[in-house]
Amino acid sequence: MSDHLEFLKSDDPFKIFENWFLKAKKEEQNPTAFTLSTVDENNFPDARTLLLKDVEDEKFLFFTSYLSKKFNDLSYNSLAAMTFYWHVSGVQVRVRGNIIKASEEVSKAYFESRAKESQVASLISRQSEVIESREALVSKFNETLDKYKNDDVPYPSFWGGLYLEPQEFTFFIYGEHRLNDRFNFQKENGIWICKRLQP
Ligand SMILES: Cc1cc2nc3c(=O)[nH]c(=O)nc-3n(C[C@H](O)[C@H](O)[C@H](O)COP(=O)(O)O)c2cc1C
Repeated sequence: MSDHLEFLKSDDPFKIFENWFLKAKKEEQNPTAFTLSTVDENNFPDARTLLLKDVEDEKFLFFTSYLSKKFNDLSYNSLAAMTFYWHVSGVQVRVRGNIIKASEEVSKAYFESRAKESQVASLISRQSEVIESREALVSKFNETLDKYKNDDVPYPSFWGGLYLEPQEFTFFIYGEHRLNDRFNFQKENGIWICKRLQP
């Protein structure tokens, strides 16, 4: 039996995710990358790649700009989906849930742990807005980096963490002849129930 199937013997989807993620961290080039799907105010779906920073207290944490298109989508509809694809093992994890903002304390602490260049990039970007030119962005970046060369970069309150609180997980393992294996977890009366799905 593959490790992935072995881990699926657990009845706790967070534990399964943790074990699959540990395996992905050993095997994959970009294990933390996932697709975040949202819908906008017109129910028009959108999706983009982000990086997972942590899973804490049964919540998935990632960082972004609160000025962004995705954040705007989430302010209309806070339900979202995350999709991880770990191609070395041929497995996929889908997680659906509600998004909530991280505290300023969490966001600031993570911001302060980043390289100065990344801090400046977050500070100067009005993510998802139109820019005049690449040159204008680069020159703003260089000016700001220079401005803070001997000082800490101030934490921008429009940038920070978001948590997805899972309500549903679907674990997928590629199978021979496309006979894939899928395991769906949803909570019933406060207990995670696992159902095996057709490929
Ligand atoms: C590998 C990869 C990792 C990324 N990680 C992040 C991230 O952690 N946070 C983020 O805001 N954007 C990240 N991006 C950029 C997003 O995909 C996206 O372009 C940006 O967040 C704006 O999306 P939006 O306009 O839908 O809000 C990443 C892109 C790639 C390709």
